[in-house]
Amino acid sequence: MTLITAVHGRIIYNSRGQPTIEVDVSTKTHTGRAAAPSGASVGKHEAVAFPKGGARRCLDILEDNRAKFIGVNSADQKAIYETLKSIDDTKDYSVIGGSTAFAVSMASAQAAALTGNTPLYKSITHKDNYRLPVPLGNILGGGAHAGQGAPDIQEILVCAPQSRSIRDAIQTNIDVHTQLGILLSKRDITFTRGRSDEGGWAPNMNNEQALEISARACEELGYTLGREVALGVDFAASTQYREEHNKYVYDRAGFENDAGEQIEFASDIIKRYKIKYAEDAVHEEAFEEMVTLTERFPDTLIVGDDLTVTNHAILQRAASQKSCNAAILKVNQAGSLYEAMEFARTATQNNIRLITSHRSGESNDSQITHVGVATDSVLLKAGILGGERVAKLNELLRISGNDLIRGVAEL
Ligand code: PGA
Ligand code: ZN
Repeated sequence: MTLITAVHGRIIYNSRGQPTIEVDVSTKTHTGRAAAPSGASVGKHEAVAFPKGGARRCLDILEDNRAKFIGVNSADQKAIYETLKSIDDTKDYSVIGGSTAFAVSMASAQAAALTGNTPLYKSITHKDNYRLPVPLGNILGGGAHAGQGAPDIQEILVCAPQSRSIRDAIQTNIDVHTQLGILLSKRDITFTRGRSDEGGWAPNMNNEQALEISARACEELGYTLGREVALGVDFAASTQYREEHNKYVYDRAGFENDAGEQIEFASDIIKRYKIKYAEDAVHEEAFEEMVTLTERFPDTLIVGDDLTVTNHAILQRAASQKSCNAAILKVNQAGSLYEAMEFARTATQNNIRLITSHRSGESNDSQITHVGVATDSVLLKAGILGGERVAKLNELLRISGNDLIRGVAEL
């Protein structure tokens, strides 16, 4: 049976060496385990990762409330959500921390899957067949994910949408990353091969140079940009946005954009580099400006991350206004898995494509890969290198051998 018999928490470290909470949820026969990730460029409206007192406080609250979870059905995500809400009825989990909501709900889902001898993705959504999301990897990092000399833009990404198999798609991303490392080393003999939080290279250069050399890495491998291989950009524009002046300040590159200039700045990059994936090109409350980009680039995924923060009500607003045609799903932005699945339903109903994503501070877990498969995500944004990134990609390979899988998603 999938009823919860025990819940245990502990503090472990994430990929940035910061403390986080890991939770074990047991049924009579099995134990599921999950640790919470955390972001560096965090949306204003996402769940608070930790309450005052940090991971320690999460653990104390979990211990005080452990009894409330005993006897709850681990397979019933709504019941888990309601139990979490009975401890913390704030909108943003500011009492128990979104990290607790994440770890308890993911560990429960894992316990239910193991107990039922079912793959986690099938235990999350019951369907007859599934498609695998295409891996989207970070090849070059800047902004909040890298040091001073790196570009203002947070992430340059790559994906191989026409790959015959998931293995080819992963390999192509790795090849581009490797080739980019070679080019960066040739260009600058002082390049230390330093990497950003998510494993992308963190070179000392501006946005323009970073995009240019990333494009060259793809082309030198024989790929046509926008065809076999496509570049993506996470502008994470809220990092540059200064609300008091209504300007985007590009400190490292040395310029400022007003709202209109920011749209042209992003549009120019999308056109020039045949960008298929453009995330948070304007700040997190610029729903109107996002409409302009969505209208202008119907063949590009115009993606909300800080804009939509895995919140179904905010996504509904974005969908009604046509502010994006795609949205990032990060379970810990919502808090619980149940709320993240509500978000996924809203996306599907509104024809908004989903990208399931890691955070810059990650664990070695791989449940989000299953979430990507379960939600019909077209992309899995999980990095390229680093044990905590590769863990998610390797899980994609394992899942790809399953009978229920019908190929790779079409972008
Ligand atoms: P974060 O970055 O995990 O630091 O928020 C990822 C992103 O912005 O997509
Ligand atoms: Zn983002």
